[in-house]
Amino acid sequence: MDERSAAVARATAWRLVGKRPTVLWLTGLSGAGKSTIASAAALKLQALGYHCVVLDGDEMRQGLCQGLGFSDAERTENIRRVAEVARLFSQNGAIVLAALITPQQRQRTLARHVIGADAFVEVFVDAPLAVAEARDPKGLYRRARAGQLPGFTGIDARYEPPLWPHMKLNTADSTCEQAVQALLGYLYGRGVVS
Ligand SMILES: Nc1ncnc2c1ncn2[C@@H]1O[C@H](COP(=O)(O)OP(=O)(O)OP(=O)(O)O)[C@@H](O)[C@H]1O
Ligand SMILES: [Mg+2]
Repeated sequence: MDERSAAVARATAWRLVGKRPTVLWLTGLSGAGKSTIASAAALKLQALGYHCVVLDGDEMRQGLCQGLGFSDAERTENIRRVAEVARLFSQNGAIVLAALITPQQRQRTLARHVIGADAFVEVFVDAPLAVAEARDPKGLYRRARAGQLPGFTGIDARYEPPLWPHMKLNTADSTCEQAVQALLGYLYGRGVVS
């Protein structure tokens, strides 16, 4: 099968099951709740019988993106690689949940470009810095405040909040379960789950 026929076959497969390639790209501060929500949503989707893949920033950095640091250029490369993997999974029928800080607008634009605007769903996992820092689940803010993590987002590197995200999940005022329900509702409205 040539490349074009393969693409047509994939598109047909999606139509048959009534789905659309979908990458839920969760962006937000460290500690905002991206990984927690992504894994809870994946568990729920899998229990409902959907093929679902989580691409978590931390895990990607241990493997595919090993060796990349946290300069702007390296973060952008990290995001580009994860977006490429997300695109491949989504084109093969999986619902993808990507959980990466993705601090800059231009990095999210790059992810959207790589994944394709039709499939890319920007989900802003929003918690005020004070809340994320008080949670500090990995002790990163403490280390950043001690000067051990230069360039840490929210402390000495800017997080640019998305201007027009497809969805905003406020984790300071609502629970992880509510966020998962909101994501499922979105997927339902999109025709990806029924
Ligand atoms: N409504 C909520 N949704 C998600 N997480 C919440 C919520 N309320 C409290 N939490 C807690 O906040 C913490 C979020 O940590 P998590 O690792 O998911 O953040 P993250 O956004 O993935 O950060 P990082 O970018 O460093 O990976 C967890 O300890 C979680 O239990
Ligand atoms: Mg995380």
